[in-house]
Amino acid sequence: MLTRPSLGFGLGLRVDHYEAILAERPRVDWFEVLTENYLVPGGKPLNYLTRFRERYPLVMHGVSMSIGSTAPLDLEYLRQVKSLAARIEPAWISDHLCWTGVAGRNLHDLLPLPYTEEALAHVVARVGQVQELLGRRILLENVSSYVAYSASQLTEWEFLREVVVRADCLLLLDVNNIYVSSVNHGFDARTYLQHLPAERVQQIHLAGHEDHGSYLIDTHDHPVPDPVWQLYEAALRHCGPVATMIERDDNIPPLEELVGELDQARQLSARVLNAPPATMPLAAQRAGMPAGAAAP
Ligand SMILES: [Fe+2]
Repeated sequence: MLTRPSLGFGLGLRVDHYEAILAERPRVDWFEVLTENYLVPGGKPLNYLTRFRERYPLVMHGVSMSIGSTAPLDLEYLRQVKSLAARIEPAWISDHLCWTGVAGRNLHDLLPLPYTEEALAHVVARVGQVQELLGRRILLENVSSYVAYSASQLTEWEFLREVVVRADCLLLLDVNNIYVSSVNHGFDARTYLQHLPAERVQQIHLAGHEDHGSYLIDTHDHPVPDPVWQLYEAALRHCGPVATMIERDDNIPPLEELVGELDQARQLSARVLNAPPATMPLAAQRAGMPAGAAAP
C-alpha cells in the first residue's frame, strides 16, 4: 500500500538564501537539498544543513545515480548517499531517470534513454539494487530532452510508467520537463500526464525555461510560465494533493520573490482541489449538491 506524505509546498535550498532562511523563517513547508553538495562528512555545508534540518523537513535530490547507464552502479556514491540520509533523515531520496556517462566518462548532463524493453529491464533491475542498498523506495524524475532514439519502441510516458510500476519505486513529476519535451518532440503533454500512475507521484517540480521559438531549453532561470501553471493544474486534477516545489538554479531572485511564486502554487492547488469534480452538472454545482446526487 502506497502512502503519500503531505509535505506541502517547498523550495530548492540554495546557498544564496541560507542566511535569509535562518533569519526570516519564510512561508516554506520544506526544502529540497542537492545531495552531491553535502556528501563530505563534515565542514560548513553540513553544518548549515544540520541547522536547516532542525527547522524544516528536508528531501534529498541527486544527479549522479546514472540509473540508466550500462556502467556499474557507483556503490561508493550510494554508500555516501545512505550515510547522509542517516544523518539528516530526509522524507525521501530522488534522482533522475537518465544516464550521465559510461566507460568512466561523466558527461555532466541528464541524458534520456532509448524507450525499449531492453532498457526497461535494465533500469528496473538497477532500481531494485539501489532500493535494496538504501533500504527504501526512491523517486525517479522525468528529464527534459532534445533528442530521441530511432530504436525507441515505447512512448516516454509508457516507459516511465512501466519503470515505476515494475520497479516498485515512486515518481518525481517535473511538470516543466514534460512541457519542454512536449514542445521539442511534438507530443501532447496532457496525454503524457493521463497515462502516469497517480498513486506513485510523490513530488512535483515546477520551473521555468528558455523559449527559442521552435524549441525550449530547460534552464531553471525564469519564473514558472503560464503553460507550466496550466499543466500543473492538470497534474493536480490527475494526482490529487502532491508535495510541490519550485526549482530555480540560475538568475536566483531574492527569497521573498520565490516564496511569492510558491504562494501561487498553494493558491492554485487549493482552488483546484477544493473545486467540485468537473463531471458534476453545472446546475448541481450551483445548488451546492454533492457529486453523484440526483438533480431534482
Ligand atoms: Fe526537476
